[in-house]
Amino acid sequence: MKNISIFMFLSLLFTSIPIPVHSKYYTETSHGFHLQEKVTYLHFYFFDILSGKNPTAVEIAHPNTTFGANSTTQFGKLYAIHDYLREGPNKNSKVIGNAQGLYLSSSLDDSVTLLVVYIDIGFTTGKFSGSSISVFSRNPITEANRELAVVGGRGKFKMARGFAETKTQYLNITNGDAIVEYKVTVVHY
Ligand SMILES: *[C@@H]1O[C@H](CO)[C@@H](O)[C@H](O)[C@H]1NC(C)=O
Ligand SMILES: *[C@@H]1O[C@H](CO)[C@@H](O)[C@H](O)[C@H]1NC(C)=O
Ligand SMILES: *[C@@H]1O[C@H](CO)[C@@H](O)[C@H](O)[C@H]1NC(C)=O
Repeated sequence: MKNISIFMFLSLLFTSIPIPVHSKYYTETSHGFHLQEKVTYLHFYFFDILSGKNPTAVEIAHPNTTFGANSTTQFGKLYAIHDYLREGPNKNSKVIGNAQGLYLSSSLDDSVTLLVVYIDIGFTTGKFSGSSISVFSRNPITEANRELAVVGGRGKFKMARGFAETKTQYLNITNGDAIVEYKVTVVHY
């Protein structure tokens, strides 16, 4: 009896509330956004700190194998990062944002040291506060001048694409601390 009344209640509910019928899960394709493409140049310094009591990059995994263990590339090591971005190369320069994500030591070849970076570079001040760009790229850290791919973005950088030219400003090979200059060209709407 109880079940029947619940059933009746439910059928009443469904008959009295019109359920919108969508015949398609998409809308017609239109031709572009009719929005003006913009180009923004960004310039900042990226502080990657592995040493001390408050590192901004920490190892979170490495392979359980001796294979590659003695190679300088440390193939398979994974780092989580929350690196600060500053206006200038000095550690007292104003923080303008941060980069969060992962670094993977991805090269088997000792002659090149390669990382693959999966990072979101976000800004916490100025015009682009709250917006970020997505970087997914190789990062041949032994090369003086490098280029990383910007594959997307959020907020004001929605649908961004572009590239970051990076240059190591400072590197302590003993502890791995680095300061890297970033010059980013971003095309967005
Ligand atoms: C690594 O793998 C070996 C077997 O391949 C196992 O005996 C050992 O316990 C593992 N070490 C760790 C730290 O998981
Ligand atoms: C790595 O180095 C250790 C110690 O020097 C050595 O015992 C081991 O065989 C080396 N592993 C490989 C894969 O070369
Ligand atoms: C590099 O790191 C080592 C180990 O942490 C430290 O002793 C040394 O002073 C650092 N060098 C510079 C130039 O900061």
